[in-house]
Amino acid sequence: MTDEHHNSLPHQRQYGHKNSRFIFKLFKSNFVCIILLISAYVFGYLSAPTRSISQPPPPPIVTATEIYPSMPTQLRNFLVTAHCSNQVASQLVRQTILDRIYNGTSPFKNFPPVHVATLLRVKKVKGWGSYGAVFEKLIKQVKPKVIIEVGTFLGASALHMAELTRQLDLDSLIICIDDFRGWPGFRDRFKYINMVNGDALLLYQFMQNVISSNATGSILPVPFSSGSALEKLCEWGVVGDLIEIDAGHDFNSAWADINRAYRILRPGGVIFGHDYFTAADNRGVRRAVNLFAQMNALKIQTDGEHWVIDSSLHV
Ligand SMILES: C[S@@+](CC[C@H](N)C(=O)[O-])C[C@H]1O[C@@H](n2cnc3c(N)ncnc32)[C@H](O)[C@@H]1O
Repeated sequence: MTDEHHNSLPHQRQYGHKNSRFIFKLFKSNFVCIILLISAYVFGYLSAPTRSISQPPPPPIVTATEIYPSMPTQLRNFLVTAHCSNQVASQLVRQTILDRIYNGTSPFKNFPPVHVATLLRVKKVKGWGSYGAVFEKLIKQVKPKVIIEVGTFLGASALHMAELTRQLDLDSLIICIDDFRGWPGFRDRFKYINMVNGDALLLYQFMQNVISSNATGSILPVPFSSGSALEKLCEWGVVGDLIEIDAGHDFNSAWADINRAYRILRPGGVIFGHDYFTAADNRGVRRAVNLFAQMNALKIQTDGEHWVIDSSLHV
């Protein structure tokens, strides 16, 4: 204690006592408040649901046209509006393609060329969803005279369709559009496809598979990029009753292929494709299909992993 305290007057001491009682009370009430606050926080924290029990709901699927109301107008610039020539009769389509691409001669004549004969397997096929029920269902429904496949690889789906049309006695032609380059690095998974001077023998192995399956009368390769091939078929008046899209799976490729192919689909025909449901989800094929259907007021149906658009079904 200091001298100052000893020397204080009685009323001053009484006042000091009252003062400390007030501070003590104040401290006591604040202390209670703090305890209450901490308890409320702890209780609230403990009673809150943990993240692992309840996941936040998935974000709603919002279409591009909902985000940008002017999108339909802008997107019209990306629609293919090429004017196609008058339709060539279906029985003349095979000869039209032979004349335009193969100097009028079947590419299967004198196959295989000597320099690759020993490099091919008698038959080697690998596909993806190539035997799905959708093929039989659509071939029975459409009874196509001309089928156009965009994306063929070794011919699994094309050969499947050839067999189905043969069983149904349809005498269909299956035009197989593929650049037969696969994709960069595809040989890592397909080492049995030989290479000559950097050229993978995908086209030749496909043709060998067609020969081994006795399907040269119904299958005809169009070995170019999908864009240029579809554009030319449009120019030559070749029309498909049934068109399958299964080439590039990124949005831009799928969007371009679907739009170009739709130009050469017979009115009332069906266009369909693989990989509607993939890890790419709404960024690749599915986004292209949805946008295309939306812009053309067409109905999308699904069958397994495939999407189907019947040009006669509008929403
Ligand atoms: C998934 S595979 C096709 C599989 C086949 N439909 C099946 O089920 O057996 C894709 C094919 O598309 C071809 N492709 C990819 N992009 C292409 C393009 N822009 N033009 C032509 N062909 C392309 C590749 O060469 C490859 O053979």
